[in-house]
Amino acid sequence: MITGKYPSLRLRRSRKNSWSRRLVAENNLSASDFILPIFLIEGKNKIQPIQSMPDVYKYTIDRIGKIIDRAINNQIPMVALFPNLSKKLKDPFGNEALNENNLVCRAIRYIKKRYKNKIGIMCDVALDPYTNHGHDGILNSGYVLNDETIDILIGQSLLQAEMGCDVLAPSDMMDGRIGKIRNALDKKNFKNVQILSYAVKYASNFYGPFRDAVGSKISLKGDKKTYQMDFKNSDEALREVALDIREGADMVMVKPGLPYLDIIRTIKNNFKIPVFAYQVSGEYSMLANAINKKIVKKAAIFENLMSFKRAGANAIVSYYADRLNDILP
Ligand code: PBG
Repeated sequence: MITGKYPSLRLRRSRKNSWSRRLVAENNLSASDFILPIFLIEGKNKIQPIQSMPDVYKYTIDRIGKIIDRAINNQIPMVALFPNLSKKLKDPFGNEALNENNLVCRAIRYIKKRYKNKIGIMCDVALDPYTNHGHDGILNSGYVLNDETIDILIGQSLLQAEMGCDVLAPSDMMDGRIGKIRNALDKKNFKNVQILSYAVKYASNFYGPFRDAVGSKISLKGDKKTYQMDFKNSDEALREVALDIREGADMVMVKPGLPYLDIIRTIKNNFKIPVFAYQVSGEYSMLANAINKKIVKKAAIFENLMSFKRAGANAIVSYYADRLNDILP
């Protein structure tokens, strides 16, 4: 593979000038690589900070227009909606997930009506924002029931599709849900609604600030280790992806991102399917805090995001996606 040798061979030659470095660059980032998460709250005319996530806010629906205008102007292809419900709307079964006037449904209708297909809308399929115990499904003696949860997830998927959601993103990790959701969508003629499966979602310690943002942190008892993946495993990730592809996933997600770049690369090498990565809340906050405290330079954000591309990610869900002008060189 190596031709020639020092002193006639010098790899530093192509690094000498910026124009040359640009020419030989193997990867690049642009706005089209990003998905912007948006946290929603009930009420009117409110923008609230999230304590554990510097510079990230929760918005009432009437205030999301500005961020979406900006996302479209900056060529961001898609937003991901996450609701923070008041406690009184939560119950053990996540019934509010099936209410066509719930926060997410109203937000989808608002965005679709104003922006048509100028930007994609992605919604999580999982019950954790809706359950009073904070788990992604329904519980029986502390254990999340698989098949019974899927029945509710199908309802949630069909409802979000009906409202105009473009990409359904099951993030619940129940076995078999992709096939069942695809089947239900096709039967109701939602043939073009895409499924982005959170196929490889680890039971991670990096979700803390997100649970804070959607209000599932206080209520969550225990952890999610009986359904999310064990971070000791990587072969198992390939099995999860293989199953979800067979069941009809259009794209797969790896989550979290930075501690799992090896998984992104392995999937990319084994399957020719779009792989997305989620730079999750804990990763975001660690980096944001280190920059605020001047421990690392702001350029570390670009370096961090570029690692996802190098690993093979097709797109990145990132809380930085609303500030790319400031971050991409
Ligand atoms: C819910 C969900 C979670 C995240 C996205 N969807 C949290 C969880 O599984 O507890 C985490 C995102 C982040 O940390 O930024 N199923």
